[in-house]
Amino acid sequence: MAMNANAPKVEIERVGDIALIRIDNPPVNAMSERVRQGLEAALIALAADPSVRALALYGAGRTFVAGADIREFGKPLAPPDPNDLIGRIENFAVPVVSILHGTVLGGGLELALGTHARVGVEGVQVGLPEVLLGLLPGAGGTQRLPRVAGVAAALDIILSGRKVSDREALSLGIIDRLVRDAPRDAAIAMAKSVLDGSLSTRRVKDLHIKPENALIEQAAEEVKRRQPNLVSPLRCIEAIAASTRPLSEGLIAERKAFLDCMNTTQRAGLVHAFFAERAVTDIPEKTAIPRPVAAIGVIGAGTMGSGIATSALLAGFPVALVETSDEALRRGFETISANLDGAVRRGQLAADLRDRTLGMLSLSAELVDLDRADFIVEAAFENLDVKKSIFAALDVIAKPGAIMASSTSFLNIDDIAAVTARATDVIGAHFLPPAELTRLLEIGVGTRTAPEVVATAFALAKRLGKVGVRAGMGDGFIGSRIVRQSFRAAERMMIDGTRPSQIDQALERFGFAMGPFRSLGLSGRNPDQAGRERKTGQGFYDHSQDPIVPYKPALQIIEEEGEKAGIPPHSFTDEEIVSRYMTAMISEAARVVENGIALRPIDVDAVLLFGYGFPRFRGGPLHYADTLGPTEILNRIERYAVEDSGFWQVPDLLRRMAERNGTFAKLNEMRQAPAERHSG
Ligand code: 3HC
Repeated sequence: MAMNANAPKVEIERVGDIALIRIDNPPVNAMSERVRQGLEAALIALAADPSVRALALYGAGRTFVAGADIREFGKPLAPPDPNDLIGRIENFAVPVVSILHGTVLGGGLELALGTHARVGVEGVQVGLPEVLLGLLPGAGGTQRLPRVAGVAAALDIILSGRKVSDREALSLGIIDRLVRDAPRDAAIAMAKSVLDGSLSTRRVKDLHIKPENALIEQAAEEVKRRQPNLVSPLRCIEAIAASTRPLSEGLIAERKAFLDCMNTTQRAGLVHAFFAERAVTDIPEKTAIPRPVAAIGVIGAGTMGSGIATSALLAGFPVALVETSDEALRRGFETISANLDGAVRRGQLAADLRDRTLGMLSLSAELVDLDRADFIVEAAFENLDVKKSIFAALDVIAKPGAIMASSTSFLNIDDIAAVTARATDVIGAHFLPPAELTRLLEIGVGTRTAPEVVATAFALAKRLGKVGVRAGMGDGFIGSRIVRQSFRAAERMMIDGTRPSQIDQALERFGFAMGPFRSLGLSGRNPDQAGRERKTGQGFYDHSQDPIVPYKPALQIIEEEGEKAGIPPHSFTDEEIVSRYMTAMISEAARVVENGIALRPIDVDAVLLFGYGFPRFRGGPLHYADTLGPTEILNRIERYAVEDSGFWQVPDLLRRMAERNGTFAKLNEMRQAPAERHSG
């Protein structure tokens, strides 16, 4: 983007006795050091000007301020302190109104809460999402939001980090009025309204606040139960509880909690996860122009195909779904209907749009009915011959320029593409079950896949609300290959006498959404195991019970097998379980990076975070690896290798890192596109 880096970030414009302050720091007007300096200078200059009777603050571009500058986290805060700045606004002698448009989040909303009236432009969303970054609002949000919206709403908004719609913000009193004007026009009009008395103003710090001790306690109990690993939610509650004290005291309590959170590894992990979601779009094909996609085709109406179809329908695409039998099509239709009902329950789809959305689905038992689709996803049985015959047929049927994607997790895209006369249009699109919910979309790029086909797959991922991650060809893409290896480590511990349920519990306490054996029983991410399990109807758990319980026969067999092999029963500690599981995961992840299957370590982190329930507050396996350091990981592998040197091998990349003081974070920086490295 061509931008003048030295352009002022804050500008004053005079309109009669009104002064407009415009914040202009693309792309999202983050409140960086220079913005804070610019605001301070503007306020000082305007305070000294007796001809100014009202101030209006607004943002240039797509949004008012979307928060503090996350890139400045972890460094000492440069002056001016946002609290001083916001205090300066709150105490300003003449009225100050703020015009809110776009996504007014975190420090942006906190800034607005310092002004004397807040006017939203229709469509604005407000929120305090700091908790999602392991923090709490640190510029007065925990003190001023309860004052305008009450403790209950503040607890909800701050603990969820959710975005609040314009109407809700109005009804909660977070904004005072909604308008339709462009921000600058609104700024002029609203400052005039303040002057003629038709828009009233007040200082939030002076508002009375009703103590809600019972609500505070209840919220704390719930957080302890539901998010036992997280530090910042409890600190949010503590700061909100302090809002009944005078503002100056509450701000001190808030700041202490904020700084404590800022210094945690959780905050670093969550911020890494935030950037991971965005870093993965930096692909070699990013300058290629995506092909237009208006209609989607899906082959296979099983759980996976139905999930993919649901996801496309929810994004507004017409979908043609093809299966071999009417019976399978009927089941697919039922699954998709039920998925859409689920989307309505979650608030993802408006109830009155449900039938119309389902109406965009057409069913067919003939591949030729895919002749109008621009992007076809094959989600048939995971078998190379099956896929080859489908792609050979598609080659005849699909319209010119249509993209033919396979949702394989293991097979080589080149082998599948080879049966077609248009290998450049073939790509991997690995969705994960449940495909309508899981955010990850691994995009497997074959040797001959055309750049614009890759770009189209990424554009489609975005429209589906998914996180596309580029994967090269190897033995499995990124995720399944890594998870298979850590699963093997879990199996080895099991064979050594540790119960699967104990392994699951240890990893769930570490933060995984689901332990490996439990997730196996549900989704079958490990294909060999899942296949066996589905065929025999047996697993490690009895899923007919709620909550599910370990499946006794399976455990007995495991113990008997151990005895036969002469292995004494042995139970690893939780710490040892996590160590072995994570060491296996990190080792394989390092190989995936070393072989270039993943572009960068952060891409691997994104895959595990968005597709495999990896604890977000740990930032992903390779971010977590950096917190241990390469030498520690190397030592662990060598220690385990004494028992089993075939399985435990040190990847070259890790050895080199240990020798040269390297980290995955440094590797991320080195592999970033040069242009971006210099502009930030
Ligand atoms: N600081 C620095 N960079 C930011 C940023 C922020 N607060 N918010 C967004 N960006 C960057 C993104 O990294 C991205 O950069 P890239 O183009 O180099 O990848 C670019 O801005 C555009 O962002 P998105 O791609 O996410 O654009 P969208 O339009 O999809 O979303 C958004 C915009 C809703 C503002 C989204 O970016 C977002 O949620 N941002 C984070 C908001 C946030 O968490 N604010 C609170 C910060 S903490 C705080 O304020 C502390 C205070 O209490 C003291």
